[in-house]
Amino acid sequence: MAPWTVPFTVCLLTSLCSAAVNVRKTSKGPTGYEVDFSYFDSSATTVAIGGGLPTFTDEFHTNPDGSAHWDPHQYQPGWFPGTSLNVTPYRMNSNGNGSWTYTMPLPSGTYTYAFQVNCVQAKCTNVVDPDNAPFVNVQGDQLVSHFQVPFDRQFQSYADLNLNFDYALPAPKEQRGIIRNVNYSSPGSVHPAPDVHDFVVYLPPGYSNSTAGKNYPILYLSHGGWGNGQEWENLGATSQILDNLISQKHLEPTVVVMPSFYNLAPEYKFVYGSEPLNHPGSDFIRKIYMEYLFPYIEANFAVSTDPKRRAFGGFSLGSSLTYEMYINNTDYFSYFGMFSGAVGPLLPRYSLLNSSMLQANPALKEKGIFTSAGLFDLALPDTRMFQAAMQSLGVPFVSRIEPWGFHVWNTWQDSLWQFGKLVLWKELPRQSNGTVTSGARP
Ligand SMILES: *[C@@H]1O[C@H](CO)[C@@H](O)[C@H](O)[C@H]1NC(C)=O
Ligand SMILES: *[C@@H]1O[C@H](CO)[C@@H](O)[C@H](O)[C@H]1NC(C)=O
Ligand SMILES: *[C@@H]1O[C@H](CO)[C@@H](O)[C@H](O)[C@H]1NC(C)=O
Ligand SMILES: *[C@@H]1O[C@H](CO)[C@@H](O)[C@H](O)[C@H]1NC(C)=O
Ligand SMILES: *[C@@H]1O[C@H](CO)[C@@H](O)[C@H](O)[C@H]1NC(C)=O
Ligand SMILES: *[C@@H]1O[C@H](CO)[C@@H](O)[C@H](O)[C@H]1NC(C)=O
Repeated sequence: MAPWTVPFTVCLLTSLCSAAVNVRKTSKGPTGYEVDFSYFDSSATTVAIGGGLPTFTDEFHTNPDGSAHWDPHQYQPGWFPGTSLNVTPYRMNSNGNGSWTYTMPLPSGTYTYAFQVNCVQAKCTNVVDPDNAPFVNVQGDQLVSHFQVPFDRQFQSYADLNLNFDYALPAPKEQRGIIRNVNYSSPGSVHPAPDVHDFVVYLPPGYSNSTAGKNYPILYLSHGGWGNGQEWENLGATSQILDNLISQKHLEPTVVVMPSFYNLAPEYKFVYGSEPLNHPGSDFIRKIYMEYLFPYIEANFAVSTDPKRRAFGGFSLGSSLTYEMYINNTDYFSYFGMFSGAVGPLLPRYSLLNSSMLQANPALKEKGIFTSAGLFDLALPDTRMFQAAMQSLGVPFVSRIEPWGFHVWNTWQDSLWQFGKLVLWKELPRQSNGTVTSGARP
């Protein structure tokens, strides 16, 4: 869930505020990098930086229910972002003339933030950085901005854990694809306009709609509960991860579509940052996507119509949706990425997958399945149950447990990176004597 469910505004031209975030290489401790935040608003009486900016923990002070809340000014190698719960925003310093500043060291990673202005008893106005605007289709789709801090081997190396997240740094200019919003017709939709729905699409470098043979492989990537398609780019820096996967030759150039599963019908109305009217069931979403989204993509983009070159993935409730596609749309896709979850913690594992289901639908054994969860992820038990079911039935899959992961974005960024690197468009995992195989080798 979005941890920043406070009201927000953007700095309108008329309201005279400005802001900046600057990532600076210092080549000295504690992390080798510092980040300068500045904010100007002559009417502000207090300003803090929240919107997902984390505190830190380490492997010895972390469990699924909690973590240390350490200030990065004291950073030591091996620290990673802790649970996003109970994080007190960082208070900015006033220069007395409407200008507010704050400097903090940070280690490698993608960070999100918003300014929290004039807080009274934990009630603040959230202000999005006007000079580093979130990725949106329509205003309000996203409520925070992001930046990326590079890894510095000299200050951040830690033998136990790889905490280098440079795969989300921008790739060289000529190796970047295009990321954009697209509106399409989906009768019943209530956002962004009646009967119009939207998705985010990543088009790899060199893509053109007229590509002969319409042959790009296509990955659908779903958000989770309380989210939307813009999240993958805005909170997960997805185009940068894809650029790096492709330019480092881990992944064939791939078209990636990030749809939104709320607002497909009036009863599932959802305004980002608030409570959805209802959460749509995976079965409903699948039917609507199959009727309107998938045909639209095939008709309008140069993508393959061969199921061998189609994949579906998602995190949390988007992982449940991926499971739904696996069970009920098995033949349409060949690869499934289930990040942080399967179907919810309450179902017994043999109803996730059992021998009668395999007998009725043998193709379930012949897919490229990737499952992942963070070690401190609330969805770890669910993920493990699904893995155990697959293992006991000899269904091959690839498993990734992020050793520093909570149920948050850096876990899903890593999942996408590993899914792209190890599984997508690779030869399908082979059965080995009725037990799990390791799937494709890196
Ligand atoms: C406010 O004060 C700071 C620090 O003294 C200074 O750097 C900045 O230029 C001032 N800003 C304005 C708008 O006067
Ligand atoms: C999609 O439609 C909404 C509502 O009409 C509009 O504000 C937005 O700019 C459109 N987006 C694109 C990419 O055309
Ligand atoms: C390809 O066509 C789609 C649908 O008409 C459009 O949204 C997209 O912008 C086009 N892509 C390029 C690179 O022109
Ligand atoms: C699959 O489809 C059936 C029939 O629409 C539905 O009852 C079921 O919930 C769907 N999902 C799964 C995971 O079986
Ligand atoms: C297998 O799972 C299905 C679907 O959840 C369930 O209806 C069926 O009873 C299960 N069969 C066995 C043998 O557990
Ligand atoms: C399967 O088991 C047999 C006999 O133990 C062994 O020789 C063979 O290498 C195994 N195959 C694989 C793919 O592990």
